[in-house]
Amino acid sequence: MEDCTEKLPCIGRREFLVKAGLVAGATVLKISSSRAFASSLEELKVPVGTDSSLAKVGGSQIVDSSAGKLIIIRIADNKYAAFSAFCTHKRGLLEYKGNQLACPKHGSKFDTASGRVVEGPAETPIKAYEAKPGDGSVTVAVK
Ligand code: FES
Repeated sequence: MEDCTEKLPCIGRREFLVKAGLVAGATVLKISSSRAFASSLEELKVPVGTDSSLAKVGGSQIVDSSAGKLIIIRIADNKYAAFSAFCTHKRGLLEYKGNQLACPKHGSKFDTASGRVVEGPAETPIKAYEAKPGDGSVTVAVK
């Protein structure tokens, strides 16, 4: 028994199943790709209370993230910067002292605004991350 009209043409069972399968497959693909995008962003919330090393301007803290260790520095009262904590020369762990982001291994220095190399031997900038101040915390967007 077929109930076909000019607006809804009849299709066979096999054609219907193929089309339904394509729609279901496309839906699954769309959902899984949006989840992959969402999971690629980590919002890392770091407290900056009075007992934190970020409590005062000039302070810094190394934290673990999905992208590895990050160094967060407090540049001003309401301004932070975040970078990969590893030197691009030979992966020395960076330090923030005297308003400089420096590597203790061989002396490379990096710009605290952009992560570009200020002084070698490193030649490649360190990766910078967006750091937004919040109420009692700083949130770093890790991609
Ligand atoms: S590892 Fe940092 S300067 Fe060499």
